[in-house]
Amino acid sequence: CFTPNDFDDEKYSKYSAVVIDVLRATTSIATACANGCKELIPVRTVAEANKLKANNPDILLAGEREGLLIPGFNLGNSPFEYTREQVASKTIVMTTTNGTLALTKASAAQKVYAMAFVNAAAITSALQLQQDDVVIVCAGSEGRFSLEDTLCAGLLAERFSKTAKLSDTALAAQAMYRDFAAELLPRVAESSHASYLRSIGFEQDVMLCLQQDTLSVIPVFENGIITAWH
Ligand code: MLT
Repeated sequence: CFTPNDFDDEKYSKYSAVVIDVLRATTSIATACANGCKELIPVRTVAEANKLKANNPDILLAGEREGLLIPGFNLGNSPFEYTREQVASKTIVMTTTNGTLALTKASAAQKVYAMAFVNAAAITSALQLQQDDVVIVCAGSEGRFSLEDTLCAGLLAERFSKTAKLSDTALAAQAMYRDFAAELLPRVAESSHASYLRSIGFEQDVMLCLQQDTLSVIPVFENGIITAWH
């Protein structure tokens, strides 16, 4: 699915889903899981997040609107904020513009993994151990295609190209990944969201989010909660 709008609840109910929001939600989620957060609850709206906090003052509120910290929240959406000191043993409730929306949309699947470049190898290993068909859901940008998510989907397609039958969209993502792989950082740096993040001071985030296989963590979203498999 190039965007969450392509996700069909009925068609994919027996699939495993891999949700990708490279810049930055699934990179931050992988970082939070790698740094020992107890659980992470993705929600669609600020109101839902605030309601959960009202019932449990110990939780950390996290996420962004227009890339920036939401007033009254503890953490924004920069992976640099999800340090062990901040998140270890914590419950995090996160709402972001596209990433958490994609996760909640894909929750009709059997099992949902959160993937970014940083944990691509770990997600690949998890998928190799299971039999389900897999749907990759790119979070995109407000219902539109996004370059970085499609390239990350293409990386996954590439890693399964010898063992799985790829759909036409997966083949297209794979071809794009092969074309861009040698110069991923400069090419993704040209994307609209990377440019926007740079304009609001998050250039380092873009660089971190494009590192590959730095975190050996598998965030799994089941029954409304993301927890880490290591
Ligand atoms: C999103 O979910 O739209 C993002 O992760 C936006 C961002 O914080 O860069």
